[in-house]
Amino acid sequence: MTAIPATFRAYVAAKGESSFERGVRTFAEVDLPPGEVEVRVTWSSVNYKDGLATRADGKVARISPLIPGIDLAGEVIASGDPEIAVGSAVLSHGYDLGVSRHGGYAEYQRLPAGWVVPLAPGLSPRDAMAIGTAGFTAAMSVVALEERGLEPADGPVLVTGASGGVGGTALAILADRGYEVWAATGKADEAARLVALGAAGILTRDEVTAEGRALDSERWAGAVDAVGGATLPYVLRTLRTGGAVAASGNAGGAKLETTVFPFILRGVALLGMDSVNMAIGRRRGLWDRIATDLRPRETGLHATEVTLETLEEALDGIVAGAARGRWIVRIAE
Ligand SMILES: NC(=O)c1ccc[n+]([C@@H]2O[C@H](COP(=O)([O-])OP(=O)(O)OC[C@H]3O[C@@H](n4cnc5c(N)ncnc54)[C@H](OP(=O)(O)O)[C@@H]3O)[C@@H](O)[C@H]2O)c1
Repeated sequence: MTAIPATFRAYVAAKGESSFERGVRTFAEVDLPPGEVEVRVTWSSVNYKDGLATRADGKVARISPLIPGIDLAGEVIASGDPEIAVGSAVLSHGYDLGVSRHGGYAEYQRLPAGWVVPLAPGLSPRDAMAIGTAGFTAAMSVVALEERGLEPADGPVLVTGASGGVGGTALAILADRGYEVWAATGKADEAARLVALGAAGILTRDEVTAEGRALDSERWAGAVDAVGGATLPYVLRTLRTGGAVAASGNAGGAKLETTVFPFILRGVALLGMDSVNMAIGRRRGLWDRIATDLRPRETGLHATEVTLETLEEALDGIVAGAARGRWIVRIAE
């Protein structure tokens, strides 16, 4: 027995030998994979990976057709797990969701119980998706830096790609925790918003992508970088002795050209962030912290809403680097 209707609306991407199609379709419940928990999806979001999953040349989608959407939130309508109650609010992200298993851009979804995160009181499904995978990765980055010993008194912290999802949320979380945060952005007209989020100062993208020496003046006690490319080498050569960077992304490129000197002469650390494979117990614990002491300021206030019908502009825009905060997908109330 299923609580999901026989058909429902979903945004689907399908890649053939020489064709690529995407758009809103009627999807059949029988075509969903098995799972213990059924969810009426109310909100999803647009992450960089979703942009790649919905392009012919994206190399992210592992099945076709695929309902993309690497995160979702909504209400449980059926559950085979006593810990996950019917009627409760939940979210899911990571693992194979929206990549090799149907994801969030659908009115209904069926999930393994071990992928489901019950929402903490006070965090609505809309808030959860305004944070989403990008914000979760930002929180994970802050925790990784603090577990390595970073404290506000250590000095300024740099966030790159600050107008984007990971960057903007990291900026807000760090500022609220008392850090002096500097924001690097390629969008001069975002400066006022980034200062409102808590930035103490702004660096241009040119400053953080310029060629430099193997080691430059020590500046940053820590950094959150989701850009990679030419930016991560800048971060590494300007970290203070003993500093660390939490690196999660490649929005600016996947190649890393650096020297060993930041590591062997300043003891800096490159901390890799993988939000996809985090075990569910740790994932649930981090979401509980995101609802409380790691909650980014003004959660959801600046998110731009799209629907299944209007999300393509966001999917294309995020890959083009046009993000200004987060796009969230309103699927139902
Ligand atoms: N490891 C993980 O688990 C994990 C989880 C989530 C995301 N990610 C990765 O983290 C990265 C950011 O994700 P997101 O959802 O935050 O994306 P996003 O909202 O698009 O943010 C990326 C930001 O990077 C900056 N950027 C710098 N150079 C760029 C370039 N050449 N092209 C595009 N953007 C450029 C832009 O900010 P400015 O204009 O302000 O510089 C852009 O807004 C992606 O690579 C994503 O795959 C990884």
